[in-house]
Amino acid sequence: QDIPLRQKSIVLIGFMGVGKTTIGKEIAKKLFRDFIDADQEIEATFGLPASEIFQTYGEHVFRQKEKEIIQGLCNQKLKIISLGGGAFLQEDIRKMCLDKCIVFYLDLSWESWQDRISLLIDSRPVLQGKSLDEIKALFEERKSIYQDHHSTVPTDQLMIDEAASYIVDSLK
Ligand code: S3P
Repeated sequence: QDIPLRQKSIVLIGFMGVGKTTIGKEIAKKLFRDFIDADQEIEATFGLPASEIFQTYGEHVFRQKEKEIIQGLCNQKLKIISLGGGAFLQEDIRKMCLDKCIVFYLDLSWESWQDRISLLIDSRPVLQGKSLDEIKALFEERKSIYQDHHSTVPTDQLMIDEAASYIVDSLK
């Protein structure tokens, strides 16, 4: 059964560390809705941070749980949901989200993003052991997946509050 547009949950996608969680919380405040971080839900089911889930069980176990969790979240109405940066690489997740939710891609330039690497590296298993060139290649490769078919938020030029307002205003 179709969810009416005004009740659809909002899903935020984009590369690691672009601000999906921070901006998502701000949108939730503005719209008086609940915020859910898909990564936190995954971590809660294992009782471990993402980096340890990768280490202990392997990435495929993380990805499988990620799909299950996001499927459950997509079926809820009126939520603000942030996804991990790798979620949209799974076609099933892309389809579910595009079908049931309103998806926004938080776009940040490589120049702005690379200033944040040192803050992210310890907690992001996907970045570990990679050279800067390899990380840049991943960044570019994923950009082409994220930007297909979704509303893009120009995060470079916006403060957190402005990015949240940009999304809220575009719903009107
Ligand atoms: C991942 C991004 C992380 C987390 C996991 C894998 C990725 O989420 O899901 O470490 O593959 O890009 P954030 O985008 O919130 O950092």
